[in-house]
Amino acid sequence: MKILRDFDLKPLNTFGISAKARFFVEIRAEAEFKELSSLPEFKENEKLFLGSGSNVLFTKDFSGIVVLNKLTGVEVLHEDNENTLVRAMSGEVWHDLVCFAVERGLWGIENLSLIPGTVGAAPMQNIGAYGAELKNTLESVEAYNVKTGEKRIFARDECGLGYRDSIFKNELKDKYFITAITLRLSKIPKKNLEYKILKNYLTEKNIINPNLKEISEAVCSIRRSKLPDPKVIGNAGSFFKNVFVNEEKQQELLKQYPDMPFFKEGGVVKIPAGWLIEKCGWKGKRVGNTGVHERQALVVVNHGGATGAEIKSLAERIIASVHTKFDLILTPEVNLI
Ligand code: EPU
Repeated sequence: MKILRDFDLKPLNTFGISAKARFFVEIRAEAEFKELSSLPEFKENEKLFLGSGSNVLFTKDFSGIVVLNKLTGVEVLHEDNENTLVRAMSGEVWHDLVCFAVERGLWGIENLSLIPGTVGAAPMQNIGAYGAELKNTLESVEAYNVKTGEKRIFARDECGLGYRDSIFKNELKDKYFITAITLRLSKIPKKNLEYKILKNYLTEKNIINPNLKEISEAVCSIRRSKLPDPKVIGNAGSFFKNVFVNEEKQQELLKQYPDMPFFKEGGVVKIPAGWLIEKCGWKGKRVGNTGVHERQALVVVNHGGATGAEIKSLAERIIASVHTKFDLILTPEVNLI
């Protein structure tokens, strides 16, 4: 394990932003974390754990220590007639875990195919897409207390999972380093095809009774058609979270915009931020080297050479115009550093 200095993070974030980490280290085994946690560079500095850098925006250099998570491995812990418990190390690529499950006929995360990022980031923000959320399959999370070096296992209900949210982003922010997660996946088919865009896609393709692989492939195709590939154009997926409103606000908006899409969840209504941003005229717009994606207005992009500060400034302009037009406040989904 070697601690490097003034390390350029450009290849390690999908926005492709150049920013320097004062200290940088890569860890490849759980035991290395123990070793790292006793070093002064770690103990005395602010820490940032990085997976595949697909949900961060570096707005300036980072004066602490960046720990690149390279913990890998996936194993079946237990199985019975109905379920299989799968444990994956946090540095694994999320989509590889989805493929592992799909190849073995295990249901539960196929709708989450192709979500960028690592396994460790999944519980951080309770990743979700096409009507599914990690919450539905998560069994437990293993993590180390960064101060004491003690390991703790969090049962799902202790993780405070909500819409793109968890205890690890709130009360326990920066306090734990997630090393592994365990999922409970089903051997019995449990299709989740209620999400309109997914349902319509399958109907259009004439896939009447899709199997596990076909569902995963459908999700991949939809994502590829809407979301830009970070290898081609820098981005971090959805830049903002969708917005929750009460029914009164929803009715007020529907009067003015009868075509407004919305999703009802419990007593609240979720309005797609992409739609709000598009209505403000941002979709496909370019500002210097930054811009808003032409097929999904929720995605802010780096056309090449943009700084994190420029992207942040575009995001602030978007927030301001949505506020002026709709009296709604957008909040970033991406982690601003
Ligand atoms: N919409 C627009 N204009 C746009 C984008 C979307 O009008 O530019 C409308 C669509 O027509 C549709 C609705 O908004 O009626 C929802 O769009 P979509 O299905 O694309 O999903 P989203 O709510 O915009 C969320 C997630 C995505 C996830 C998709 C699919 C958030 C912040 N984003 O986007 O997650 O892939 O649902 O389930 O919840 C990510 O987190 O990085 C991400 C891409």
